[in-house]
Amino acid sequence: MCGIVGYTGEEEAAPILLHGLQKLEYRGYDSAGIAVRNNLDLPIIVKAEGKLKNLIDKTNDGKSIHSTSGIGHTRWATHGVPNELNAHPHASDDYNVIGVHNGIIENFIELKDKLIHKGYKIHSATDTEVIIKVVDYYYKKYKIGPIDAINRTMVRTRGSYALALMFKDYPNQVFFAKNGSPLIVAKGSDSSFLASDVPAILKFTNKVYYVSDLECGYIKGNEIRFFDLNGDDITETKKIETIDWKADSTDLGNYSYYMEKEIDEQPKALRNTINAYVDKDGTLKFPEMGITKEYLNSLEEIYIFACGSAYHAGVVAEYLIEDLANVNVRVELASEFKYRHYKMNPKSLAIVISQSGETKDTHEAMLKAKHNGIKTLAICNVKGSTITRDADFNLYTYAGPEIAVATTKAYSCQLVVLYLFALFLARTKYALERDRYYELINEVKELPAKVKEVIDNKAQVQKLSNRFTDKTNVFFIGRGIDYAVCMEGSLKLKEITYINSNAYAAGELKHGTISLIEPGVVTIAIATQPNLIEKTISNMVEVKARDGSVVALTGNDIDVSSSSKYQLYIPKVNPMFAASLAIIPLQQLAYYSSLNKGINPDKPRNLAKSVTVE
Ligand code: AGP
Repeated sequence: MCGIVGYTGEEEAAPILLHGLQKLEYRGYDSAGIAVRNNLDLPIIVKAEGKLKNLIDKTNDGKSIHSTSGIGHTRWATHGVPNELNAHPHASDDYNVIGVHNGIIENFIELKDKLIHKGYKIHSATDTEVIIKVVDYYYKKYKIGPIDAINRTMVRTRGSYALALMFKDYPNQVFFAKNGSPLIVAKGSDSSFLASDVPAILKFTNKVYYVSDLECGYIKGNEIRFFDLNGDDITETKKIETIDWKADSTDLGNYSYYMEKEIDEQPKALRNTINAYVDKDGTLKFPEMGITKEYLNSLEEIYIFACGSAYHAGVVAEYLIEDLANVNVRVELASEFKYRHYKMNPKSLAIVISQSGETKDTHEAMLKAKHNGIKTLAICNVKGSTITRDADFNLYTYAGPEIAVATTKAYSCQLVVLYLFALFLARTKYALERDRYYELINEVKELPAKVKEVIDNKAQVQKLSNRFTDKTNVFFIGRGIDYAVCMEGSLKLKEITYINSNAYAAGELKHGTISLIEPGVVTIAIATQPNLIEKTISNMVEVKARDGSVVALTGNDIDVSSSSKYQLYIPKVNPMFAASLAIIPLQQLAYYSSLNKGINPDKPRNLAKSVTVE
């Protein structure tokens, strides 16, 4: 949902800004732009439609633009088509204020009308041009400084924004403001940075401040100052954090695409996540994170809120927690839950799952739970993100930075954190015998090696992917946990291949969707749950009887050759944790099919990794 960057220091700004934008390109890639301004000259603004590469070429890697301060933007269009006119930065007509923005200004039409009434002209279709001109308006009307002008604008603005702004009278300063969209400020030795996310600055520094909502400030050289809505300097109250991600963790290395790299990184990511929570003796460290046994014992119900793949991880957990801990679970799409009039059980916990920690729908569902007096537990990959800052408890996934738009390693890490949580809850509630608990913990510990075994089978999946290139419809069917995996496998396929794929609970097929089965239609049937396998096989046979092609994904001790055309096998695993293995070939299938179709799997059309708008 757009990435913004800013820089002030002693180096040439443009290459640094472009580097930051490259690291943020996962947030949006339909157009990009940078602006620099030094001394009292007019700013230099360069924009390009399409991928960031176009901007990089247009500026000769940034070498054709000289200045030691500037701002940049990579866009995921909300208001107005992706073209150069709508690309950021935007500026007041006299270039007094220039700026970039991530978010949505909800009352922009009202603000736009007021500006037009005051004699302003609006050229683009964006809300960003409007908000920048509102800042300009207050700055000039009241003859006040940038911070006061920004604060007045924030008071008048509804919606979400992370803003980076430059003023003509303050040529070597970059101002910022935030509400609802992520923004960090980072401190270098003789420079400072602004960015929507940490990877943009990791090459230069790992010291960051998280900007809170309704705060603003500026960077100038390596000076960083924060102000509240009253205009009071609150810099002393801000805490600088050290990021533990390595600078090269966002490099591609020998890979062509991040998605393949991230699929292959899963064993390591899982190991790091498991090690963060499981002691050598098999006990879980959750009480150290504030999740006490007394508190868990008081719970009667669990809610899970999330979107997309994180929601799919929640569906796996729903089956698992109910099965292991005997506690009712309600998993809800965050975007739906926040508008429902649902009476929450006061003796409940709300788990929110999010890779980015910035998903607006998930954050708002979480705030709704808090508002109902329910404690919240975030499972998140990004420390310091909005969701983690508002949650009562945090369980981090240690996937490392995930760049590809389609999540792989973060989803897998979410699953293992949920397994461990389910085991802890089950043991705490005496729903699980001690020996069985340790047995299951050991099985979780074995997952990274088993996942590696499945990943190494990629050639077989690659071969199968050739059969998908010309498909327009694919169905996924499964029961129980397999159904949850179907949802994730189907999403992976559709988001990076543009093939229409749908996941169905296998038992539902005959209630309508089977009418779509005809020769050539592919159905991927997942059958890893022993108690449900026979029933799923019956559904496979029903598809086969109608000349549909069935791809069976099952355990290597199960014979499905007579009920399917193609087979993919996973190693022996406890069925409760089978999702962790079954998802791997589906990730790979989507990846290779995407390549076959000539699509860049890292940057599928219309999508952005972090969805900070409703
Ligand atoms: C997954 O491949 C998607 N890109 C998307 O569904 C994602 O899982 C969803 O937007 C939630 O994001 P989050 O985990 O950062 O909250």
